Amino acid sequence: MRPRNHLVPGAHRSFTRRTLRRPVPQIQEIGVAIAICAQTGERPHRAYTLPRPLPPSKGRTHIHVPLDITPAAPADLSGILALLDASRLPRAGIEDHVASTLVARQDSGVVGTAALELYGGAALLRSVAVATALRGQGLGAALTMAALELARQRSARSVYLLTETAGRFFPRFGFHAISRAEVDVAVRRSTEFTTACPSSALVMRAELAE
Ligand SMILES: CC(C)(COP(=O)(O)OP(=O)(O)OC[C@H]1O[C@@H](n2cnc3c(N)ncnc32)[C@H](O)[C@@H]1OP(=O)(O)O)[C@@H](O)C(=O)NCCC(=O)NCCS
Repeated sequence: MRPRNHLVPGAHRSFTRRTLRRPVPQIQEIGVAIAICAQTGERPHRAYTLPRPLPPSKGRTHIHVPLDITPAAPADLSGILALLDASRLPRAGIEDHVASTLVARQDSGVVGTAALELYGGAALLRSVAVATALRGQGLGAALTMAALELARQRSARSVYLLTETAGRFFPRFGFHAISRAEVDVAVRRSTEFTTACPSSALVMRAELAE
């Protein structure tokens, strides 16, 4: 069988001109930038580009986070404690980890928190809370992702958490339930594990990529 357009003597030359295009791949968002502002204004913005976008849920394709997420300052402690109380989360020991706590502020008040306790290659994510009026707008997710990025920057490879109320909030960030026996020994000795959270709390772990 002759291929199409093969020229036979005496036949009319006929061309079918076609422009072949490769299918253009859908552009996918591969990072979510979150502005981390310095307290003093000396370094107005440090952008953390996070490696994974939030999986869209309920048709939402854009997470609107109008507030900056910043490292907490010592002066934020009272606001952090007030938010933890309002969110019914344990406050014990948080004062020792303000340096690795992230906050969102509105009208100079703390309206969002996520704290890390750092134990070498392991970290405990705790105190993830958003003021009631601001929930459901992506701030809790942004705080969680910023805390995971901070953990990565501080060389943590595994991040643990305990929760009694939000076991279905965290899997979207890579957390899955584990037993207490699987928890890093240093994390298991933390106040959250030993006293602050009841033994019935769900234990979860996320492994961070290098
Ligand atoms: C959990 C919390 C931080 C989420 O903050 P948020 O700003 O409302 O969360 P986002 O807007 O980023 O995400 C909203 C999504 O999370 C889900 N979600 C919120 N709270 C949840 C919870 N307790 N359990 C399961 N899913 C939850 C919402 O249903 C929503 O899901 P959708 O995207 O499928 O619609 C906030 O509800 C809170 O402060 N809760 C009290 C404190 C707490 O339980 N902290 C977690 C343990 S440390």
